[in-house]
Amino acid sequence: MEIVIRPTPADVAVTAADIVAERVRRGPAVLGLATGSTPLATYRELIRRHRAEGLSFADCVSFNLDEYVGLPKGHPQSYREVIRTEFTSHIDIPDAGVEGPDGTAADLAAEAKRYEDAIRAAGGVDVQLLGIGTDGHIGFNEPVSSLASRTRIKTLTTQTREDNARFFASIDEVPIHVLTQGLGTISEAGHLLLLATGEGKAEAIAATVEGPVAAINPASVLQLHPHVTVVVDEAAASRLR
Ligand code: F6R
Repeated sequence: MEIVIRPTPADVAVTAADIVAERVRRGPAVLGLATGSTPLATYRELIRRHRAEGLSFADCVSFNLDEYVGLPKGHPQSYREVIRTEFTSHIDIPDAGVEGPDGTAADLAAEAKRYEDAIRAAGGVDVQLLGIGTDGHIGFNEPVSSLASRTRIKTLTTQTREDNARFFASIDEVPIHVLTQGLGTISEAGHLLLLATGEGKAEAIAATVEGPVAAINPASVLQLHPHVTVVVDEAAASRLR
């Protein structure tokens, strides 16, 4: 596991964009995309490079990590919608190749299986962007999550619903259930790129990098992966030994 400590969140975004851009330039790529606040600056930097430097995503497809269950199609906080608004609609990735789990599916278990099959059919994720929850979740694999888990329904913790209430009018509107790639699914990506900024993530980053590998600490599964880059600002690195 490589840990890169950068002075500011803006520097974290540049380093993360460098890693994604390097893979995209090497030819057809399957990108794993995260939502939430943390990767937004990276997406803005990639959009800038697309516009200013001709970085092309025309040969890429992408898979979101997760989705809320029950938000209607087109809801501004649906992750399929968020990823288009914040990132993919501003680059030249074909829209038909921008995939996410469907949280409106009538049969969510069947949808989870379909999603796993789609990732596999695409050849697996090359670079997977990850944020981290204050409780150590990646994707929406809340404590506790099996390290071998596959895409499935999970129930959000109160902590995560409180953390995400800022995107909704009130906490009551934050869905309780989600579809998320499992820790086993995420672990099959070729390169895992975990981003974190701010003091609020310091505890979770220390547990991820230095804590025991355990289902109670989902992001610790990264310790078992052969190619992980953790890019953090100084505040998020502040609890590392
Ligand atoms: C979102 C996701 C989550 C977020 C995490 C951190 O697709 O998978 O794991 O990465 O909740 O969110 P922010 O970046 O908003 O702190």
